[in-house]
Amino acid sequence: MAILFGYLLLCFLVSAGFFIVFRASRSRRLRLPPGGLGLPFVGETLQLIAAYKTENPEPFIDERVNRYGPIFTTHVFGEPTVFSTDPETNRFILQNEGKLFEGSYPGSISNLLGKHSLVLMKGSLHKRMHSLTMSFGNSTIIRDHLLVDIDRLVRFTMDSWTDRILLMEEAKKITFDLTVKQLMSYDPGEWTESLRKEYVLVIEGFFSIPLPIFSPTYRRAIKARTKVAEALSLVVRQRRAKYEAGERKNDMLGALLAGEDNFSDEQIVDFLLALLVAGYETTSTIMTLAVKFLTETPLALAQLKEEHDGIRAKKSEAEALQWSDYKSMPFTQCVVNETLRVANIISGVFRRASTDIHIKGYTIPKGWKVFASFRAVHLDHEHFKDARSFNPWRWQNNSGAGSPGYVFTPFGGGTRLCPGYELARVMLSVFLHHMVTRFSWVPTEEDKLVFFPTTRTQKRYPIKVQRRDIFSQIKSKTRDQS
Ligand code: HEM
Ligand SMILES: *[C@@H]1O[C@H](CO)[C@@H](O)[C@H](O)[C@H]1NC(C)=O
Ligand SMILES: *[C@@H]1O[C@H](CO)[C@@H](O)[C@H](O)[C@H]1NC(C)=O
Ligand SMILES: *[C@@H]1O[C@H](CO)[C@@H](O)[C@H](O)[C@H]1NC(C)=O
Ligand SMILES: *[C@@H]1O[C@H](CO)[C@@H](O)[C@H](O)[C@H]1NC(C)=O
Repeated sequence: MAILFGYLLLCFLVSAGFFIVFRASRSRRLRLPPGGLGLPFVGETLQLIAAYKTENPEPFIDERVNRYGPIFTTHVFGEPTVFSTDPETNRFILQNEGKLFEGSYPGSISNLLGKHSLVLMKGSLHKRMHSLTMSFGNSTIIRDHLLVDIDRLVRFTMDSWTDRILLMEEAKKITFDLTVKQLMSYDPGEWTESLRKEYVLVIEGFFSIPLPIFSPTYRRAIKARTKVAEALSLVVRQRRAKYEAGERKNDMLGALLAGEDNFSDEQIVDFLLALLVAGYETTSTIMTLAVKFLTETPLALAQLKEEHDGIRAKKSEAEALQWSDYKSMPFTQCVVNETLRVANIISGVFRRASTDIHIKGYTIPKGWKVFASFRAVHLDHEHFKDARSFNPWRWQNNSGAGSPGYVFTPFGGGTRLCPGYELARVMLSVFLHHMVTRFSWVPTEEDKLVFFPTTRTQKRYPIKVQRRDIFSQIKSKTRDQS
């Protein structure tokens, strides 16, 4: 209650000034996208939050698109904001990042991420660091270096599974271990697990907004961030010393130390810390939701099992997946795309207009926020037939991706395209391989999807797992057939 009250106060302060200006002058000169600004001060924030706490993925946007069309104005989180649910407009927004629009994050987020993180960088430094990050997760690196770690670390966590597990927690362990390995070549152990515990607190801080100053979660997150940063800077110092003594390692940290920018320890720590944040919740959530959707679609699960049993049948039980195996999982790739499309872990991105922008007959005034909604496009029947159901077969013959333009953008686009897009796909595919070949499972409780503050299931998806003896199953299958 106190938080809500404080939040309302904040909205009041932020928006009072705006309402006066907006009502008095701008609206007369500019043709704003249609829409309602809701109550003074709070705008439509409460409606937005209430809508995303239901199981229906898009009630807030659906209602407004029906009333105003694909581009509309609302007022959320203390500011007037133009929502776009139109692929062409989304493309325009993403492609003009850094020119007509800029990324926009509240101060509470940059305190947690650190000012030298990729998401907060701009201009030529951003360009250079984005491409460095891209090259660390590109398909060559995954094929030659990361895949074997991914395979090993997925197995490592799964080895400990017995009976009832919280799938989301397990997926988080896997993702965290993988990212730490990729960034600084550390294998999982006590150190990574204690680091991860602090990390969890940092991440909770991101969702304690709207009102950081009054939020104990936020204060705890800032403390945890300091601890994480200390742990990481110890690693950076040690590695720098080794680097100066001539040791080279082929990981992200190695590349940052070797770069021509002479980054300080603080810069490197910020950069690494933010990379860990970016991959952690997203990838573990997509793993969990893929399993949930498959469980609810038995035909798809059966077909996926068949594909992976076929791959495993050609290998011994302990043999790692090869790049060629990854490249021969056509149905899995349909499942991956369909999960990304339906789950919409990142439902869209906020930008701020750096100048008056004229688009589709409307004007977005300089300084206004825009939200390019990916989810609204992904769930639009115009772009995907029967868009709100999970149907991996729609991607067969590549018909799902056939539509041109910015219709399928789970990883964003333009200069801020997610540098982890390939890595996330490979991680999910390898995870699914071991999940379906090594286990069968049943959910132990009903677990609903919610969309606020992030897309996730309410109960972290508890399941009861049972080991499959796939090798004797494959043998008996071949026997039956002969
Ligand atoms: C299913 C998993 C993932 C999804 C859906 C996802 C989605 C996205 C999206 C939509 C953006 C664009 C944000 C914007 O334009 O403002 C983004 C940016 C980013 N992602 Fe991912 N991501 C995923 C996994 C990962 C992984 C595994 C990593 C780590 C290696 C990662 C690192 C980043 C970074 C560093 C950025 C910021 C790029 C920049 O601002 O230049 N992501 N991600
Ligand atoms: C991936 O990045 C490396 C440099 O780290 C580069 O040599 C290679 O050509 C890149 N591969 C692709 C497919 O872009
Ligand atoms: C980084 O350091 C090297 C040698 O110490 C120097 O030659 C170079 O100019 C520095 N680069 C930048 C961008 O400061
Ligand atoms: C894909 O192509 C196959 C064979 O050409 C066809 O049987 C199948 O129905 C197609 N699937 C979709 C979703 O169009
Ligand atoms: C999945 O989506 C990507 C675009 O993000 C596309 O390139 C790829 O062909 C799609 N895969 C399938 C199987 O349709």
